[in-house]
Amino acid sequence: MARPFLFGTNFKMNQTPVESAVFYQQLAASVQIPPDTHLFVIPPFTSLPAVKDVVGQPPHGIWVGAQNVHWAPDGAYTGEISVGMLRALDVDLVLLGHAERRRYFHETDVELNRKVLAALSASMRVLLAVGETAEERSFGVGGETVLRQLRIGLHGVQPEHLELVQIAYEPVWSIGAGGTPASPDDVEPIAKLIRSGCQDLFAGSGAGIPILYGGSVDPTNAGTFTALPDIDGLFVGRAAWTVEGFVATCHAGYEGYSKGDRAIG
Ligand code: PGA
Repeated sequence: MARPFLFGTNFKMNQTPVESAVFYQQLAASVQIPPDTHLFVIPPFTSLPAVKDVVGQPPHGIWVGAQNVHWAPDGAYTGEISVGMLRALDVDLVLLGHAERRRYFHETDVELNRKVLAALSASMRVLLAVGETAEERSFGVGGETVLRQLRIGLHGVQPEHLELVQIAYEPVWSIGAGGTPASPDDVEPIAKLIRSGCQDLFAGSGAGIPILYGGSVDPTNAGTFTALPDIDGLFVGRAAWTVEGFVATCHAGYEGYSKGDRAIG
């Protein structure tokens, strides 16, 4: 058995419902999905119903995700969205802990843990993003930061829910137009640390958790990250915001992935 290849994009605060639905439709019509691969798109909340309408019509097979969720089942939380609301739309996955949520909305590891547990208890897939800031890196505590985010974020996850969990390692300093692209040499030791952190938390089952890399990924560097033994996929922003860019980056990433050995016993 091997860990699957995962590839997806997050549209952040971009796209109208129609734009998201057209993107999904064109993507589903043009991308070849290799075996053992899961693709996903994460549009804004307001686009989810329109995209799920398109998913109802073949061809499909690409997961649709939400960018955030609240931990409570309901209540006085103005502006928030519950797991039940996402389940009602048949959403496949929820992204939690993106660097922008941590930075601009001050989401803490403890809050993220509550969100992770709420999503998993409703059998929803979780993509938990972790990553150190430039400042943390400069003080030599990048690895510690990522491990803390991982250990708190996944605290209390039950073994039967592990197959719903994936981790995105996104160094904050590498994300977005102002970011400095990381090299595979930067990523390899942290990916290894995340892998061993998963194994410490969940013993043998931790070996099966997919780890994605994200931060200034494009078709020229995608394969260099997925050739790393602990990187099983990519979580891409700007380069995958056109259908052509999504397909090109995905194919480059899959090539790198195909070279690696990810047997998990
Ligand atoms: P980027 O964004 O690929 O545009 O750097 C990545 C992210 O924010 O997840």
